[in-house]
Amino acid sequence: MAERTLSIIKPDATRRNLTGKINAKFEDAGLRIVAQKRLQLTKAQAEAFYGVHKERPFFNDLCAFMISGPVVVQVLQGDNAVAKNRDVMGATNPANAAAGTIRKEFAESIEANSVHGSDSAENAAVEIAFFFAGTEIVG
Ligand code: PPS
Repeated sequence: MAERTLSIIKPDATRRNLTGKINAKFEDAGLRIVAQKRLQLTKAQAEAFYGVHKERPFFNDLCAFMISGPVVVQVLQGDNAVAKNRDVMGATNPANAAAGTIRKEFAESIEANSVHGSDSAENAAVEIAFFFAGTEIVG
């Protein structure tokens, strides 16, 4: 079933000019980029986006990292897009990521791990609405 998920190319990857190489991974996996924009997040935006993690020990570091440079936020569409995107991303910690995944090839650490992807269709809808108006998504 066609589905949408929210993806973020993180500051470690934009800094190394990897947006195109990461987008090629999505497209090669059958995902279509149906919305995309490059943003400098504010501290308030990062804290709101990651609000679910606010009690975690890494929350402040994660938010600081996410505002350390530009991000590219995007909506990916395709069959089982949420699960497919998580497969393409690989494990959160690049040390545990499978060969061929974005995090195995590009991530620097568990913090600077190059990409974010929604973890469920329900969260994808919330995360997409956080960044995009409906009119900005062209499927
Ligand atoms: S969860 O909820 O247990 O599945 O959390 P997890 O997917 O492991 O991580 C949630 C996000 O937090 C980031 N993360 C960290 N950032 C900095 N330092 C440490 N130690 C750390 N551990 C996890 C992780 O990259 C996830 O970011 P997103 O953007 O959601 O992928």
